[in-house]
Amino acid sequence: MHLPEWLKTAVFYEIYPQSFCDSNGDGIGDFPGMTSRLDYLKELGINAIWINPCFASPFMDAGYDITDYLTIAPRYGTNEDAREFFRQAHRRGIRVLLDLVPGHTSDQHPWFRESRKPEKNEYSNRYIWTKNAFDYPAGFRLQSGLSDRNGNYVVNFFSSQPALNYGFENREYDWQLPPDHPDCQATVNAMKQVMRFWLDAGCDGFRVDMAYSLVKNDPEFVGTQRLWQDIRGMLERDYPEAVILSEWSCAEKAIDAGFHLDFYIHFNCKGYNALFQTESLDYVDPAKAVSCFFSREGKGNIRAFTDEFTAKLDYIRGRGYMCVPTGNHDMIRYSHKRTPEELKVISAFLLLLPCVPFLYYGDEIGMRYQGELTSKEGGYFRTGSRTPMQWDAGKSKGFSTADTLYLPVDGREDAPDCASQMADPDSLWNTVRRFIALRQSAPDFRADGDFEILYAEENRYPFVFRRGRYAIAVNPSASPAAVHLPGSGRKVAAANGDGTWESDELRIRGVSLAVFEIA
Ligand code: NOJ
Repeated sequence: MHLPEWLKTAVFYEIYPQSFCDSNGDGIGDFPGMTSRLDYLKELGINAIWINPCFASPFMDAGYDITDYLTIAPRYGTNEDAREFFRQAHRRGIRVLLDLVPGHTSDQHPWFRESRKPEKNEYSNRYIWTKNAFDYPAGFRLQSGLSDRNGNYVVNFFSSQPALNYGFENREYDWQLPPDHPDCQATVNAMKQVMRFWLDAGCDGFRVDMAYSLVKNDPEFVGTQRLWQDIRGMLERDYPEAVILSEWSCAEKAIDAGFHLDFYIHFNCKGYNALFQTESLDYVDPAKAVSCFFSREGKGNIRAFTDEFTAKLDYIRGRGYMCVPTGNHDMIRYSHKRTPEELKVISAFLLLLPCVPFLYYGDEIGMRYQGELTSKEGGYFRTGSRTPMQWDAGKSKGFSTADTLYLPVDGREDAPDCASQMADPDSLWNTVRRFIALRQSAPDFRADGDFEILYAEENRYPFVFRRGRYAIAVNPSASPAAVHLPGSGRKVAAANGDGTWESDELRIRGVSLAVFEIA
């Protein structure tokens, strides 16, 4: 299987399109706006982009509820605007992944409108329907009484998101079709057509929403893996440089399934939360909250990350990569309850891991979580992480000329913005830019480069690891730390000040990261 070279040096940026840049003054972001900011991304060092769903939708779940997979949502522009975005990105050496939502559609999708009709038709089995309207088998989220069809249908996420039918690996009832049933295969083929359409239009692949969820009653993911292996086969044959990135958060399963990339994120991966979760994550059950490694208290346990991460890394080596993000549109921003100094250490750390790093838009300037906002487009607590990008100190922070925005911008006096930070050599923005450049400066830092743990002790700081000829020490706690580490090194880069490694003794101040060239 072919693993495209470009992934080794990819540094991704996630764009939430409604909040990135409004070019036509209607108060919401759009494609021409995104195109106009490509030079900005290039300057930061970004060479790959993931755009959240940008297709026709009633936006009950921010566009993860699609009514037409082949048409750009009018509020974002036209299909031609998207093609122009791909062209302009490619001209700058930037790859673009779209968001593929194969698990469900909007209940307004024409397939579903047909499917819910009582008369049998081509789409009757495109979604999962129970045998009759009074059938409530346990273990499914069902909607009932909403159409004349005598059955209840399975939903994947919100009530407006009926699950597409890819069949059942283990079948208990006769309405559960096998994955190789022609109607389930028709769903797979429909999704392949969607992929071909956008790849032919010039995109470079897809981030795949809820990639693990397609075949139902599939506890070991055998059926779902078989399905993705088939799709990977199509890519290998016809689009060998295109990539698929799963929202699975289980790299072992996802890479075996044929994904090139898998997110290492807040659900499934305890290690991600062990790094970043704070007690401030209101949606986390306080009983399950852990002290994270990246906190000034210095009470985190780095081993909760390293043990999990290295096991995954060993398992997938040579076949795919994990993607570790600063955050995403489903999480509270990493800036929450943290200072810019702490964010410099986190972003530098992520950029030096043996992974494909992702920056969530606005995290390069430490945009803040706005937890007080009322839910918008199915965001709920996530809405606070989805506010308009803060470009400069002007009206609406340069996001839009409109008087009313679809979601308010952080208008506080001290809200960060790109222009000010770009002008300040010591800003978070410039730290991120420097560490992206450092990552690109040596093959040692690539996604496939060596990784060895030099010092990672339970409940101790710092954490020290090796990438090829370099050792990286990271100390997020407020107190200075020292560790006996055979050897010495010359400091070549740092986030927040000093660090020394001489005569077998490594010392590093609090809230800092240092990169040493090993002597
Ligand atoms: C995961 C997406 O990231 C999230 O935003 C969405 O609400 C669900 N999947 C449902 O599609």
